[in-house]
Amino acid sequence: MAHSFDFLVLGGGVAGLSFALEASRHGTVAVLTKRARSEGNTLYAQGGIAAVLAPDDSPAKHLEDTVVAGAGLNHKDVVQICVEEGPARLQALVELGAEFNRRTNGEFDLTREGGHSKRRIVHAGDVTGREVERALLAACDERPTITFLENTCAIDLILERSAPRGQARCLGCYALKDDGTIETLRGAVTVLATGGAGKVYLYTTNPDVATGDGVAMAYRSGAKVANMEFYQFHPTCLFHPDAKSFLISEALRGEGGRLKLRSTGERFMQRYHPMGELAPRDVVARAIDAEMKRTGDECVTLDMTHKGKAYLVERFPNIYATCREFGVDMAAQPIPVVPAAHYMCGGVVTDVSGKTNVPGLYAVGEVSCTGLHGANRLASNSLLEGLVFGHRAVAAASAELPAARAGLGQTVADWDPGKAVQSDEAVVVAQNWDEVRRLMWNFVGIVRSGKRLARARRRLDLLREEIREYYWAFKVTRDVLELRNIADVAHLIVECATRRKESRGLHYTLDYPESDDQNWLTDTVVQRHA
Ligand code: FAD
Ligand code: SIN
Repeated sequence: MAHSFDFLVLGGGVAGLSFALEASRHGTVAVLTKRARSEGNTLYAQGGIAAVLAPDDSPAKHLEDTVVAGAGLNHKDVVQICVEEGPARLQALVELGAEFNRRTNGEFDLTREGGHSKRRIVHAGDVTGREVERALLAACDERPTITFLENTCAIDLILERSAPRGQARCLGCYALKDDGTIETLRGAVTVLATGGAGKVYLYTTNPDVATGDGVAMAYRSGAKVANMEFYQFHPTCLFHPDAKSFLISEALRGEGGRLKLRSTGERFMQRYHPMGELAPRDVVARAIDAEMKRTGDECVTLDMTHKGKAYLVERFPNIYATCREFGVDMAAQPIPVVPAAHYMCGGVVTDVSGKTNVPGLYAVGEVSCTGLHGANRLASNSLLEGLVFGHRAVAAASAELPAARAGLGQTVADWDPGKAVQSDEAVVVAQNWDEVRRLMWNFVGIVRSGKRLARARRRLDLLREEIREYYWAFKVTRDVLELRNIADVAHLIVECATRRKESRGLHYTLDYPESDDQNWLTDTVVQRHA
């Protein structure tokens, strides 16, 4: 049986909840989350939210920093919207009850991160995302028109059958419940807010839900996807076999942290960029990668010892405590760190209202490619993007609601399991998960080449074929759905990376080490037609 809503929102992070909250004024809303409703990248955000609040700052400076970090590929109209509307969205979040650190005079305690020329990061200690998620969920709970569907994993979008892929209207999605049943969920408007895809890589700061489901579903449905070659690696994650790439926030460098070689203790960032440790993230990650390769060290270190224990415990309580759990006292010793996959700068192409090219389908937050980030996201601009565009998309989506509700009248078939049986070779899934993530790390990581990309493509073609066979032969499980999605996202990253014949921002290839503004100051757009 189908369940119908005016707005079907896939994802309960900052973007999905911002959308849901505003949309609930116009109609019924369902928010689907793959696991518990707070689980997602938002929950783990540490550093903060970038917004122009200081008297010596301006939207023009925030715009300039964003475009410098993004290596000029940013869509300036989108950046302008974000930096101008950001402060009001932040204020709205505060009015919902979100609490951020303040100075004794009541003003926000603004911190700094890489690529920012000013202090403009609002933060809640070092667990900003937790506070954002808490405040938004509490506000959503006050709205009777919002329903949460937890542990419900969207499988694929449902498209009307009468039009070709890319033009067919999105009518909702099929979703797998934890008990193995598959539901048909209808939305007059469907909104992808499924976050990033860090799990495509072997080492990532992202939680397990970040498997790029939204991008993969949208691509299979004929949506345009762009700039997937720009996967951001965060320079500093705790180097420890059991730490699962725990993030060491860039705010530590913003507050004076020093990157050093593990073996000699030498600082090295000044050799790579005049801003030293506060250079944009792509530069820092590449510098660390190069130094690790040059010295043979397994990691570099981030030294905070000069800041003193009292300050560190007060300013970074979560990071301090977590490092201690892994035997590192950051007040007494430098923290061992390595880069890990962190943020998907590309995604589903949208306009400034979150609209994709698929009628009835919107995308907001990390899953989208609005043009804000260009070739490399400026730190703390993504919570901001989720707040701004999650809210913004509602105007267009609610305007089309009266006409879109007619679409709910169209009959759609329930999920057809065909001849699928219970799997008796789940080992294939485990093996392929590992292969995809490892080959992406080794061949499509921080430094690339045409040869490595070709290797990755050959292996991925084979793996995707195997996964397709498995998908149709056996009853679906969340594991196999996620595997299919990471393989599709890996394919998109390789495709975009192969097309771009230059180095820019996060895409660095040995074959074309320079940027080529004449030919390549343009997005890499991929679309499936057949
Ligand atoms: P998410 O918050 O990731 O939410 C995705 C949602 O989609 C989840 O609810 C998930 O369950 C759901 N979902 C996914 N697939 C499916 C499916 N198939 N079916 C149903 N539901 C699905 N950015 C900043 O600006 N500042 C920071 O300080 C910062 N720190 C970060 C620290 C860490 C460790 C990480 C990982 C990221 C950080 N980022 C930061 C990035 C930022 O947190 C994310 O880009 C942002 O939170 C993404 O929000 P979102 O709403 O788009 O997606
Ligand atoms: C961090 O705290 O370093 C993460 C900030 C971000 O990803 O924007």
